[in-house]
Amino acid sequence: MGSKDAIAAPPGQATWPTLTRDEYVTADVFERERERIFRRGWMLVGHAATFPVGGRRVVDLAGESVIVTRDRDGDLHAFANVCRHRGAQLCSPHPPHADPETLAAPSLQCPYHAWTYALDGRLLSTPRVDPDEIDRERHGLWTYRADEHNGLVFVSLSPEAGPLTRWIAEHAPGVAEFDDLRLADMVVARRTTAEVAANWKILVENYQECLHCAVVHPELVEVVPLYRTGHVLDPTRDDGAVEVSGNSFSAGGHEDLPLVPGMHDDRAGLYDGAVVFPNGFLDVTGTSVSLLTMFPLAPDRTLTVTEYLFSPDVTDDDAVGIDHVVDFNELVAAQDGVVCEGVQRGVSSTAFDTGVLTSKDALVHDFNEQYRSLIGPPGPVT
Ligand code: FES
Ligand SMILES: [Fe+2]
Repeated sequence: MGSKDAIAAPPGQATWPTLTRDEYVTADVFERERERIFRRGWMLVGHAATFPVGGRRVVDLAGESVIVTRDRDGDLHAFANVCRHRGAQLCSPHPPHADPETLAAPSLQCPYHAWTYALDGRLLSTPRVDPDEIDRERHGLWTYRADEHNGLVFVSLSPEAGPLTRWIAEHAPGVAEFDDLRLADMVVARRTTAEVAANWKILVENYQECLHCAVVHPELVEVVPLYRTGHVLDPTRDDGAVEVSGNSFSAGGHEDLPLVPGMHDDRAGLYDGAVVFPNGFLDVTGTSVSLLTMFPLAPDRTLTVTEYLFSPDVTDDDAVGIDHVVDFNELVAAQDGVVCEGVQRGVSSTAFDTGVLTSKDALVHDFNEQYRSLIGPPGPVT
């Protein structure tokens, strides 16, 4: 739930204000976030295995419908979900939990007049229109940028965003701390979705502190005893990890699953995680990885997609152990969803201007600073 960079304790008496009511609830701020964060940088869209060769997936990024494909050569692409003929939406949005394999298609065909595009965006055919009538070369799909880092797929809506590696180094350095793990080799055993009636920042802030753990997560504090204390990071360690009572994040904590590829034995009993700024969480135990992607839909609505990754060496015999890990994580996520929705309702009150952050909320404060550095100070949108 934290990065090694942020482990330094804050000053003894330090308290900070939270974000303001406006920043959690207003359409103005939400639009500014879309402009200054979501449309400018890179956004996580999921694990590489959910974008198989020949596959396509439609995602909503900052209000833009985006088709992400992987062509026959294995290259990722992202396109505006808009036909170049008369602007019809090319692919209907599908349920976010749809099986990627069922979304495989040799090409993308518009449902209006059947113009057909290759998975790399080239316009292939224009039925009933003379091929000489339009220059097909100039009417491929409008492209965005797609790239992957260690099995995590990202899309940028901005041609001006720098390289993905630079974005990660500057905005989500915790991700690179897992570069020794071969996340790209892992298999997605389960994919779940939820819609949380809360602002996306409330979800990030909730992830960044464990003052709530003893109250909200009785099962989790059995698995990670440190969390009873309210610490989200272990003050006796300098690696950002916490000890798990077993090598799995599950109610029993002792599922006999194969290790995450690249995982060293001496880290198999630890849990570590990172925020994939701005819209993801990467959680790693000895035997499982969960990758949560947030798609902010409105100031008070966030779609979450969680992909549960396991070693490619898992067999049918591991199904029960996998179920335990998934069920445990889903339980904790549901508990977090309930309290995040309660925060959204609370901060929507006109009585709320700001709250207060304590020393154990230090990572929340760090996130707020990171957010403000990109979004600018509160006030009218300029
Ligand atoms: S709008 Fe797509 S083929 Fe006409
Ligand atoms: Fe929680």
